[in-house]
Amino acid sequence: PAPVPAPGLKLGFESLPASMTDACVVPAGYVAHVLGPWGTPLNDNAAEWDKDGNNSSTDLLHSTGMHHDGMHYFALEGSSTEGILVVNHEYIDEQALHPAGPTMVGGKRPAEEVRKEINAHGVAVMHIRKSGGSWAIVKNSRYNRRFTSATPMALAGPVSGTDWVKTPFSPTGRQVRGTNNNCGNGTTPWGTYLTAEENWAACFVNTDKANQPAHQKRVGVSTSKGRYQWETASGDGSEAQGEFARFNVTPSGADALSDWRNEVNGFGYLVEIDPYDPGSIATKRTAMGRFAHEGAAYGLPQAGKPLAFYTGDDSRFEYIYRYVSDAAWDAADARRTDRLAVGAKYLDKGTLYVARFNDDGTGSWLPLTPDSVGKDGTRLGSRYATLDEILINTRGAADFMGATPMDRPEWTAVHPTNGDVYLTLTNNSSRNAGTGTNAANPRLNNVNGHIIRWHDDAGANSFRWEIFVFGSDAGAAAETNRSGLSALNQLASPDGIAFDARGILWIQTDNGIDGGRNNAVARATNDQMLAVIPGALAEHKGPGPAINAANQGDLRRFFVGPNAAEITGFACTPDFKTIFLNVQHPGNWPAYGSSDATLAPTGTVRPRAATVVIQKADGGAIGV
Ligand code: FEO
Ligand code: CA
Ligand code: CA
Ligand code: CA
Repeated sequence: PAPVPAPGLKLGFESLPASMTDACVVPAGYVAHVLGPWGTPLNDNAAEWDKDGNNSSTDLLHSTGMHHDGMHYFALEGSSTEGILVVNHEYIDEQALHPAGPTMVGGKRPAEEVRKEINAHGVAVMHIRKSGGSWAIVKNSRYNRRFTSATPMALAGPVSGTDWVKTPFSPTGRQVRGTNNNCGNGTTPWGTYLTAEENWAACFVNTDKANQPAHQKRVGVSTSKGRYQWETASGDGSEAQGEFARFNVTPSGADALSDWRNEVNGFGYLVEIDPYDPGSIATKRTAMGRFAHEGAAYGLPQAGKPLAFYTGDDSRFEYIYRYVSDAAWDAADARRTDRLAVGAKYLDKGTLYVARFNDDGTGSWLPLTPDSVGKDGTRLGSRYATLDEILINTRGAADFMGATPMDRPEWTAVHPTNGDVYLTLTNNSSRNAGTGTNAANPRLNNVNGHIIRWHDDAGANSFRWEIFVFGSDAGAAAETNRSGLSALNQLASPDGIAFDARGILWIQTDNGIDGGRNNAVARATNDQMLAVIPGALAEHKGPGPAINAANQGDLRRFFVGPNAAEITGFACTPDFKTIFLNVQHPGNWPAYGSSDATLAPTGTVRPRAATVVIQKADGGAIGV
């Protein structure tokens, strides 16, 4: 293969200044247009989007969902002008979704409102095509489909069929309805999409506080009410089997087949989708662990060696995981068309590991198997007897093994040729004198976050690591601004991260500015996407961060989003002439009556999260 980065590959744009407006900003010579804002019909079963919020639950079932997040472009026959765009819809803005926000009648959410909310979550699969210089959804294409928080899905791997997941809906424990709070994403070497279930725990409630299982407490299932109180919508006579009651997982009947106590155990997974087969069933891969998954990236496949997937658990002081397949990689599997069968081969049988980062720049992958010896010298099997019990209790098992608590692990990206793995640690304001620091999370009150990188081999359980860049405002003291960032590349709360195949690393931020401009970077600029061409970890001679005062100019700001929005999701066509990113939870964007993403609305609009398509005005490759 050609070396990456290609000799002479350089960023070919000037770093953007900060921006705080209701518009997107791209470098000179670039154009950006809006694609598929929430509520865009995928077929004729949906009415056009209504600016007053009056669309029905059925409309949402056949339209793009809300709050676009992780995403991937799957080329059709290698094309850079026609493909399938798969987009996660992480959560909802209830104010924007309904005409005047959510309602409650006599202590119950109206069933139609809740159905609309459930249908606004999940994943959209969209056939898209470029014509006349811009991209559009191919309405009514056979590829177009929606997965929502109610779509029946398969459970596969060690948890499937166990007593943990038997419900009145699936007495065999092989199925579950819906995927929830799909944040980051991943892909596989055989052409499927992985959607990551992140903050699913918040949608459930268990009011039996005294008897709440430890694994529910560990993931934060509420004992008072669900995030949207979907559980209250039951009882109007319109619902299918447990359609809303299933979100209340309080044991109330004689056993697991007479109440919904196990419904929540069907969530918290990486879910595999075959975008090329419209009849395929989304499949939850339970062997890859159960927690607040934030994306998944695979290590470089090597013939005859197992495959590795890396995935973070986004909460304060949670961990970084690696899944390693039992099966050795066979390159012929990349060309098979029974893609979910290939998924079963690699993703249902393997070992889940959790990371320990040592102070000397080495690290260890600790296997989460019954025979592993934990930090107290006893077997993990003495705490959780079987692999399925370990997987249901993934966080508890990782605690037992002595993993390193991190500053909110978000997305992962793998360098396209040297295999270095990069992971965003978005921030952790709760890291204080009481919790202490460690070498991999060295700053107290880490409101700016950092990016860590490591190098390992799927066949070995040790690795080398270092900090790649520390987020900071430009004006901070050197102890905080350890990478020497300037006004032109200061960043906080790195979240989305992706490599394109040339070796350009794209870094996106989610600095929480929808909740107020609460740190110095948020007071200086809206959320953004930056680009850098990193050298290999092996070539970096330390001891400081790889991006430091000497080379910080190589990190350039490429895009700034509108007020209140985070920037997330990255996809690229094979010719690098189009990139796609997502603007999530904008405050007052996009402009109506134009698809130009760089226009601010005149006046106040009902905000719409959307994909933004970026191209060069002259049609050239992006970034260079
Ligand atoms: Fe949904 Fe961790 O971001
Ligand atoms: Ca988000
Ligand atoms: Ca995220
Ligand atoms: Ca985030």
